[in-house]
Amino acid sequence: MEKTIKKRIDSLIAEINNHNYAYYVLDDPKLTDIEYDALFRELETLERDNPNLISKTSPTQRVGHPVTSGFKSYEHSIPMLSLSNAINDEEINDFHKRIVKWLNNSEVNFVAEPKIDGLGVSLIYENGLLKRALTRGDGFKGEDITHNVKTINAVPLELRQSKKKTPSFIEVRGEIFMNISDFNQLNKNREISDEKIFANARNAAAGSVRQLDPNITASRNLSIFCYEIGGSKDIKLDNQIEMLEYLKSVGLPVNPLSKKITSSEDMVSYHHTLETNRTHIDYEIDGSVIKVNNYQKRERLGLRSRSPRWAIAAKFKAKQAESQIIGIDLQVGRTGVITPVAKIKEVDLSGVMISSATLHNQDEIDRKDIRINDFVLIERSGDVIPKITKVLNEKRPKNTKKFSISDFNWPDPECKIERVDGEAAYRCTNPNCKSRVMGVLEHFCSKNAMNIEGMGPQIVKQLLEADLLISFDDIYKIKYEDLIELDRFKNKSAMNLIDSINQSKKTTFPRFLFGLGIPNVGQHISRVIDRYCNSSLEKLTELKIEEMKEIDGIGETVAIAIEDYFKNDNNKSIIESCLKLGVKIIPTTYDTSTMRMLNQKIVITGSFESLSRSDLKLRLENLGATVTSSVSSKTDAVIVGKNPGSKLSKAQDLNIRIVEEKDLIGFLGEA
Ligand code: IVH
Repeated sequence: MEKTIKKRIDSLIAEINNHNYAYYVLDDPKLTDIEYDALFRELETLERDNPNLISKTSPTQRVGHPVTSGFKSYEHSIPMLSLSNAINDEEINDFHKRIVKWLNNSEVNFVAEPKIDGLGVSLIYENGLLKRALTRGDGFKGEDITHNVKTINAVPLELRQSKKKTPSFIEVRGEIFMNISDFNQLNKNREISDEKIFANARNAAAGSVRQLDPNITASRNLSIFCYEIGGSKDIKLDNQIEMLEYLKSVGLPVNPLSKKITSSEDMVSYHHTLETNRTHIDYEIDGSVIKVNNYQKRERLGLRSRSPRWAIAAKFKAKQAESQIIGIDLQVGRTGVITPVAKIKEVDLSGVMISSATLHNQDEIDRKDIRINDFVLIERSGDVIPKITKVLNEKRPKNTKKFSISDFNWPDPECKIERVDGEAAYRCTNPNCKSRVMGVLEHFCSKNAMNIEGMGPQIVKQLLEADLLISFDDIYKIKYEDLIELDRFKNKSAMNLIDSINQSKKTTFPRFLFGLGIPNVGQHISRVIDRYCNSSLEKLTELKIEEMKEIDGIGETVAIAIEDYFKNDNNKSIIESCLKLGVKIIPTTYDTSTMRMLNQKIVITGSFESLSRSDLKLRLENLGATVTSSVSSKTDAVIVGKNPGSKLSKAQDLNIRIVEEKDLIGFLGEA
């Protein structure tokens, strides 16, 4: 009896999976919704009556329990890079020329694909089973969203059998998105139930996968297109076309509009055709991605620091709208730079209501002759702040007013505004002016820094005005009793803020360093320094400019900025105070099974046949090594390619291990 039931369960699972495959991958559904629901319900009933027969990969098991402990972060085994952009036909042609030249004028094939405007995701399958799904995050670390991705019917819980052997490991990359029709329906429903509506389909998709409760994600009708493999074992694929075919064969949806092309004319025409037809497609795309097809050629082309040389994202023209400037305000950034911001009559720019636009600096205002009351064209591409592209001179009203920062009646008397010689920007030179301090504090609390939830610009401003904050260590002195006295704070909100402040105390070195707001020390540099200093602030404060410059990726400007910062006693005492008040930097731990070269200092010299220097650098860094630029007694090994420089003889003099290209595979542990 049980055998018969098991057989029926297996056949129902196969039928449901086949349907999903036909629907999401082949775009050729075989069942109606009613037929599908009937199969699903029969399966649910059989499983309810025979719980011992429930398999983990049954489609009924997609929705699990809410995660109560928040999202865990995991390091990507290979960083999820971004793409460099081409903003017009000329830049697409330049990309083509560059590639052909670098590959010595050999014939190069490309694959053009739509650039899906969704949410980058990495899907890890082990022995065919979906093991984990991570967001792109900052490209190095992503959040675990497995519980939510499992609810997406387009994502197979188990890969289908293909002609190739199921790999023991494969990491597939793709984009989760919401169809425009589903997005519109979702917003309609939310409006009826008085919930906040999403600004666009991308935000709706992102909001849906960042839910703790997978039931919510399951109700949102998300989909996915896969477009790259991050890493794999046991399968050999030679090019993108073959790879896309492979993904399809194992049940992963790929975009049907991908196309193999060769000439730069084809690239431009693919891009324009896509742009013209985008209104007929039921998902948002914001450009086309053009990639070199052949993987060996990709290897030869290698990577820049954040993006591969072998691909480019050709962006569609930004969406524009017309509006009128009703005033100009100034904003002071944390480094004192003053940015004029135009207040405009609220206007809908492809689904997002816009009421302000950056004017960059006074030169920009003068060059474009932008005046208060002017009618202007506003443009916004991607997530960036909207900007004014053009004054509509033919509509200029009689009552326009010219604007000059120097005439501005600045509301903060502490601000000392000066135009720095040779710079377009005006700056406030008083580091203690409230507006500037506010920028510093906002940055310290922000998501990628100390991540103090609930401590946004409005609250920072309020606490600053209530004299509860001067420098960022004051954040850790705030008490519930202080907050409850303030407007807008109630018992719950005060407790929540105290809670988030306390939670932020346990932090990481890169977050804390980034939060300090040292000029030019962004998230990437903070991570590089973390590795070099083993998460030790003490070590960082002792570093001399010369040593810092040795670290690959750190130039003179950054080194000087860091030294200047730590020379300042006030900065040092604020940091010490933070530590005394409970901020604790948890040292970054690396997975020692994959980071076999942790803390080793490696120098690369010469060029390599089998891979580019940047690829090699990335691989070494993935193994935990720090790549430095010159040889010293602290160097652990020097990797020597063709035409090495003086670094080779220096390494020989110092008796340092020398690794030649032929030994590289063994050295990287990939033999
Ligand atoms: S390839 C190393 N292909 O665009 C490059 N990306 O701006 C890997 N995206 O982070 C990406 N559609 O999230 C690739 N067909 C496509 C894409 C695509 C959308 C996203 C992806 C990436 C971002 C880069």
